Amino acid sequence: MQTVLVTGSAGFIGYHLCKSLLADGLRVVGLDALTDYYDVSLKQARHAMLEDAHFTPVIGRVEAPGLVLDLFAKHRPDCVVHLAAQAGVRHSIDNPRSYLESNIAGTFEILEAARAHPPKHMLLASTSSAYGANTQMPYRETQKADLQMSFYAATKKAGESMAHSYAHLFDLPVTMFRFFTVYGPWGRPDMALFKFTRAVFEGKPIDVYNHGDMRRDFTYIDDLVHAIRLLMQVVPQRPQDGIVPAGDSLSPVAPHRIVNIGNSNAVQLSEFIAAIEEATGLSATRNLMPMQPGDVPATWADADLLKTLTGYRPRTDVRQGVANFVAWYRDYYGT
Ligand SMILES: NC(=O)c1ccc[n+]([C@@H]2O[C@H](COP(=O)([O-])OP(=O)(O)OC[C@H]3O[C@@H](n4cnc5c(N)ncnc54)[C@H](O)[C@@H]3O)[C@@H](O)[C@H]2O)c1
Repeated sequence: MQTVLVTGSAGFIGYHLCKSLLADGLRVVGLDALTDYYDVSLKQARHAMLEDAHFTPVIGRVEAPGLVLDLFAKHRPDCVVHLAAQAGVRHSIDNPRSYLESNIAGTFEILEAARAHPPKHMLLASTSSAYGANTQMPYRETQKADLQMSFYAATKKAGESMAHSYAHLFDLPVTMFRFFTVYGPWGRPDMALFKFTRAVFEGKPIDVYNHGDMRRDFTYIDDLVHAIRLLMQVVPQRPQDGIVPAGDSLSPVAPHRIVNIGNSNAVQLSEFIAAIEEATGLSATRNLMPMQPGDVPATWADADLLKTLTGYRPRTDVRQGVANFVAWYRDYYGT
């Protein structure tokens, strides 16, 4: 039986991934520090939902020296999916140190543990924010991406580079995901869908940044987990003679590849808000605000590489995905 180590297992994406792995009978070790960045009880509830004979929850910080190394030594994971991170663009402006610790020191500990006990494949979460100030849309993995606009994005880009050096030096196969605004049931309270839905139910106005002129490539959680599961099977190989197929982001010198996971569809914020109004049956009062520092007006994924590698493309329509979220929200919070 395969063992998968998932960090950030009590987080939004980690929870859904673990659930999918356990449903297929895999053994899962889930590490999470249950940080108080948002409602800890939501994280505890997610972990409680994962209770299973094949699930080993571990509460601890990924950057705690020796902790991850011990987990690798004890469980010898075949595959590692590193999702634990301090997330959020806006929070990184006032709290950069937590990003340095969780995202940079944390990723370093994961890489060191993998060097000591190499898994067959390591998959690490990066973000569409890594594209930063790029204006060429849709974003392709082969584009240069050196102009990060927030410290959050900078720590994630640093993680990509750190993983590349370990992949090169120690022949560790690494896939880096660049996720595009993931949403769905059990979602994050700091993200727009959750905040807007809560405000609409409470009859409060919603803050709409850049006066509503925002576009996001929204990725539904089930599609994302499906893509991760497929990519787990696509283990990057160091290319022969440094020759990389056109359109592939594979490094010429390491078994390291970056893959966008997005819907390839930049949805206007107004359309997204309309989907919330439709699902809740309530109308939103919009509080138009200027652009937030560190944020970007649009994201849009080119998902051709994902399709080439796995044969799969995320498809869920935003109205359906938002309706599923609102149904979960009503049920969970008894609204
Ligand atoms: N949700 C998105 O739209 C999105 C987009 C791009 C990238 N990502 C990335 O995907 C990953 C998962 O995101 P998510 O949306 O599930 O976020 P999340 O905040 O719900 O999950 C992250 C989990 O990691 C845990 N964690 C944080 N710091 C830790 C540490 N130092 N040690 C151990 N655990 C720690 C948190 O307690 C949390 O449960 C993150 O790496 C994030 O940066 C997410």
